[in-house]
Amino acid sequence: MPFIIAIDGPAASGKGTIARALAAHFGFHHLDTGLLYRATGAKGGDPVLAAQTLTSGDLNRSDLRSAEAGQAASRIAAIPEVRAALVDFQRRFAAQEPGAVLDGRDIGTVICPDAPLKLYVTASDRIRAARRAAELGADEAVMLAELQERDRRDSERATAPLKPAADAVVLDTSHLSIADAIARAIAEADRAR
Ligand code: C5P
Repeated sequence: MPFIIAIDGPAASGKGTIARALAAHFGFHHLDTGLLYRATGAKGGDPVLAAQTLTSGDLNRSDLRSAEAGQAASRIAAIPEVRAALVDFQRRFAAQEPGAVLDGRDIGTVICPDAPLKLYVTASDRIRAARRAAELGADEAVMLAELQERDRRDSERATAPLKPAADAVVLDTSHLSIADAIARAIAEADRAR
């Protein structure tokens, strides 16, 4: 059985960095599931059709990291048929040997509810906004408003809302260095294996 690590959390919480580091440490596959929603939103047209016909070429577009792509992603991510069209791909990815790390919003709650390790990575709004502003070279106040709007939409939607799974380990990275956050995540994975 492949070992699955499910990582969820709000935007700019550090979950992507932790997911990449865990995958490298254990030699696991890694999927940033936000990219699936960003690529679906960026294709334009009918979002359900866009999700159903997503290709690896769509995932490699260079414009997917922008704040606008994040907003578009969170709007189409609230559509149940869009989410349904992306489930199989994510579950097949998670089934790869020797293991996989998937990060997103509903990995521990919907996509991989039986994952032996679920992490919910979070950080204060202000710290997440400061990180995203530094990353994108953007204004901190603008980033704060953008993150809060997206988090609210992601948390309040009816289908697969952002929330920690009942058995998730919560990792607050507000006052942790990247190295310390990664070390804690590795320790949790060692415990779960
Ligand atoms: O993680 P990232 O910021 O790239 O995600 C972009 C958007 O995609 C999120 O704001 C959320 O609306 C959506 N998403 C989701 N479920 C996931 C991953 C991302 O709804 N598993």
